[in-house]
Amino acid sequence: MIKTAWIGLGAMGYPMAGYLSQQTNIELCVYNRTKAKSEAWLETYPGTLALSAKQAANGADFVFSCIGNDNDLVEVTSGPEGAFHSMAPGGVFVDHSTTSADIAKTQAELAKAKGLSFLDAPVTGGEKGAINGTLSIMVGGDKQALERAQPFIEAYAKAVRHMGAPGSGQQTKMVNQIAIAGLVQGLSESLNFAKRAGLNIEDVLQVITKGAAQSWQMDNSGLSMAQGEFNHGFAVDWLRKDLGICIAEAKRQEAQLPITTIVETYLKELQDMEAGRLDITSLIKRLEKS
Ligand SMILES: NC(=O)c1ccc[n+]([C@@H]2O[C@H](COP(=O)([O-])OP(=O)(O)OC[C@H]3O[C@@H](n4cnc5c(N)ncnc54)[C@H](OP(=O)(O)O)[C@@H]3O)[C@@H](O)[C@H]2O)c1
Repeated sequence: MIKTAWIGLGAMGYPMAGYLSQQTNIELCVYNRTKAKSEAWLETYPGTLALSAKQAANGADFVFSCIGNDNDLVEVTSGPEGAFHSMAPGGVFVDHSTTSADIAKTQAELAKAKGLSFLDAPVTGGEKGAINGTLSIMVGGDKQALERAQPFIEAYAKAVRHMGAPGSGQQTKMVNQIAIAGLVQGLSESLNFAKRAGLNIEDVLQVITKGAAQSWQMDNSGLSMAQGEFNHGFAVDWLRKDLGICIAEAKRQEAQLPITTIVETYLKELQDMEAGRLDITSLIKRLEKS
């Protein structure tokens, strides 16, 4: 049996770890900051519970995480109670969170110094992709370590691609987030316009999802955002975190992000409206308030 651990059982990690637990050749130990989530997960899936990342990763060959931001990643890897202190020699740590490329490079170096591998492996496909096990995953770091981890990652992914050196997975994810920010704002404006014009939203979506304006966001969230349902999915807090990372990286690359920079301020407005935990399609709420 191969020893594995999963850290972070939120909107994404909960179903992803569920798919991993169905592999027949592994032992899986889970850790989440709020213990109740681990306990709930273990009522459905096989595994054991740990009270720290270090405990979960004890002797593990593969550790997977899907947590929050850069600070969370440091805490669960190289922090005093982090996994790097207890993993098996030669072990691979796969982080599915969205973080800066800089922290991914730093953690890859720290892992290497301990005889471990660290892969930055952010995901796209949303909560639905996690629930359906159909995520798309972009990976930076050692290619051989990815080849070893890939059979496990494929439990919840439909596509896995090696992008290059440490940090390149996160840079690819930035490309994705820059594309999404403007798109969701555009979708918000279009659906708000449709409502103001008194059109039947279901009819509108029926016809325009078949045409040139079609997108994943329109297909999966068009109707729910028009109906004002935002208690699911990808949190405003997380996209604002991601756009902050994108804007800082773009300054280094001297790449212009005019629309992304504006959408970042709109997300701050939503946070000020206490909508930080709502799905990013709540961008439409800003337009409805006037
Ligand atoms: N949701 C999406 O559609 C989506 C899509 C692609 C990428 N992502 C990225 O994936 C990551 C997770 O997103 P999510 O939507 O699953 O977030 P979430 O629902 O907030 O879940 C995060 C989970 O990680 C746990 N956690 C956070 N920091 C931790 C730490 N230091 N130690 C232990 N556990 C910790 C949290 O514990 P608590 O229960 O204590 O809060 C929570 O259960 C983020 O980086 C996000 O940007 C999300």
